[in-house]
Amino acid sequence: MDMLIFDLDKSTAKPLYEQLYHGIKHAIIHKQIEVGTKLPSKKKLAEFLNISQTTIEIAYGQLVAEGYLISRPRVGYFVEEIDELPYIEKELLDIPVENAVGRTFQYDFHPGKIDTDSFPFSHWRKYAKDLYDSSSKELLQIGEPQGEYALRTEITKYLYQSRGIVCKPEQIVIGSGTEQLLPIILRLLENDSEFALENPGYSAIPRIELQNRAIPIPVDEDGLMVDELEKTNANVVYITPSHQFPTGAVLSATRRTQLLKWAVKDEKRFIIEDDYDSEFRYIGKPIPALHGLDQNNKVIYLSTFTKSLMPSLRVAYLVLPSTLVRKYKETFSYYSATVPRFDQHILANFMKDGYFSKHLNRMRKIYRKKHDKLTHTFETYYPNVTITGDQAGMHILISVPSLKSEAELKQIAAANGIAIYPVTDYLLKPIYYLYPTFLFGFGGIPLDEIETGIHRLMECWGIAKQVSY
Ligand SMILES: Cc1ncc(COP(=O)(O)O)c(C=O)c1O
Repeated sequence: MDMLIFDLDKSTAKPLYEQLYHGIKHAIIHKQIEVGTKLPSKKKLAEFLNISQTTIEIAYGQLVAEGYLISRPRVGYFVEEIDELPYIEKELLDIPVENAVGRTFQYDFHPGKIDTDSFPFSHWRKYAKDLYDSSSKELLQIGEPQGEYALRTEITKYLYQSRGIVCKPEQIVIGSGTEQLLPIILRLLENDSEFALENPGYSAIPRIELQNRAIPIPVDEDGLMVDELEKTNANVVYITPSHQFPTGAVLSATRRTQLLKWAVKDEKRFIIEDDYDSEFRYIGKPIPALHGLDQNNKVIYLSTFTKSLMPSLRVAYLVLPSTLVRKYKETFSYYSATVPRFDQHILANFMKDGYFSKHLNRMRKIYRKKHDKLTHTFETYYPNVTITGDQAGMHILISVPSLKSEAELKQIAAANGIAIYPVTDYLLKPIYYLYPTFLFGFGGIPLDEIETGIHRLMECWGIAKQVSY
């Protein structure tokens, strides 16, 4: 036996037993030691290597445990026959290193950001503190797969009061985000379902299992063009009727009726209504959910606390038509809820005591101020910029009749510390836009920075004010 396999490097930090273990294992795998060979005794090897017998014992013990050696009491250690496994040196692919902190901008108009200065930390902390107590020890056990009944009850009440939806807690499924709930819906529907999506639309949706198979349906100022949907063989449509993402269009009353009529024409047809930021409306009365008009169990309602509370909470929910509840229970009763029980109860108690409604009222005022500041600032540059999608939600759209391309405008903005988001990021199928168009989210920008941010952007784009207010 070549004693070089026992060669150790005492100058490195790698423990000696580990070096010995790797050396012997490598030699066995590469057949440098034959099956049945007796290894040197612990005493002999310890003397040869000038190390302790314990080190050798640990290395041999590990090799025995992994099946490379067999130990015969009072005889010694022998190399075992190992089943041939293809031995491939693992290649360490060049995985890009994560940036702990991405690039930060002085002004970030991301549409997904919320106002972090207004979160009711003290109330939230109180509910959290009350729950993390031995009186809640039952919450240490696994909970309901569908979500905690207490939270489902509060959501039911909220939906009735705020969105005109009548449903039972039994129809609600809680999950850790819209993205996590959509695959559940897909599994509840027929396998051969053909999906139609709004174009432009919420970009996470096509990435979820719908890759390439979704049918894009255009959107205009009245929302999804239902005539176009009717021309396709889609039987499931995903839609944001209260505030189309990202154009901000509200689905007109005529189209709502037309869409519900489309759905009843075939029993396999369903509408997935994503009501993601319906809480914030700035012009006119709140638009009731499509679900409230549905008499035929055709609408699967989907909403989230991402905008109304915080994106990091990861709580969203479904309201299943009563016809799909049984199938849900049969298919998903073995899955565990994806939101921690404690978080669900903190939220349920927060809602039960009226703090959620209070928070929403407060946020409506704050976002309205930010929305008005943003739109008024842009209006001073009209017609060099035009605003659309400003009736609701937490972003508006700005079109810039500029000779510069969308990419150039974005790049100039970034070079000046301003992050903006082109509408083309949300396309399922290319659309020709006459002018570069961007989403401007206002949730995350402090009120007193909105004006300066927009003036700086206009200056770096070389756009002058046209109207003096
Ligand atoms: C259209 C739409 N739906 C849903 C969501 C929220 O998704 P989630 O519940 O996974 O945070 C967003 C994100 O802001 C969205 O834009």
